[in-house]
Amino acid sequence: MKILLIITSSVGCYKALDLIREFQKKSINFEIIATKNTFEFISPLLLETISHKKVYSELFDLDMEKNIGHIQLARDNTHIVVYPATANIISKFAQGLCSDLALTCMIAANKPIYIAPAMNKEMWANSLIQNNVKLLKEHGHHFIGPEDGSLACGEYGSGRLVNPGEILNQLK
Ligand SMILES: Cc1cc2nc3c(=O)[nH]c(=O)nc-3n(C[C@H](O)[C@H](O)[C@H](O)COP(=O)(O)O)c2cc1C
Repeated sequence: MKILLIITSSVGCYKALDLIREFQKKSINFEIIATKNTFEFISPLLLETISHKKVYSELFDLDMEKNIGHIQLARDNTHIVVYPATANIISKFAQGLCSDLALTCMIAANKPIYIAPAMNKEMWANSLIQNNVKLLKEHGHHFIGPEDGSLACGEYGSGRLVNPGEILNQLK
């Protein structure tokens, strides 16, 4: 098993650090992409220190792209997991957008993607988001969560990111 973990800028992205620890405890090989907005919440230094990996974020990376790195990242794995997944990345992916490294790899991937949404309950309930979720499911992608529970914004409802332990249970 080799996992490409894509981290996006939900407030729940701190839980990705625990998911990385899970991978390490289970000796699972992985690579990490984080969207640029993720670094508003957790620093590249923290992610690289915890993971002992380079954290990829730039699409136009001169070193990486010598070997067409975004296609390699998209292909050189058995599973792709987006944890947490913002409303933004879900919708852009559903519409086939490739506006950053994460999305370009997701569109270039040759396998279904596991998506763990995390957002405010009204964002999750929004019919635009639900239409995009439906579309992605129709295209064979897998959704893990979200759960009902207390949300970072102080509200209670559906939109809570599943715990890291849930992810490995769900990978087929
Ligand atoms: C404090 C804060 C918390 C946020 N939490 C979430 C969230 O849980 N889920 C979500 O979909 N967007 C959340 N956002 C909005 C995203 O960060 C924003 O839509 C961003 O453009 C997503 O970029 P990305 O998908 O490239 O990471 C939050 C923004 C802020 C400022």
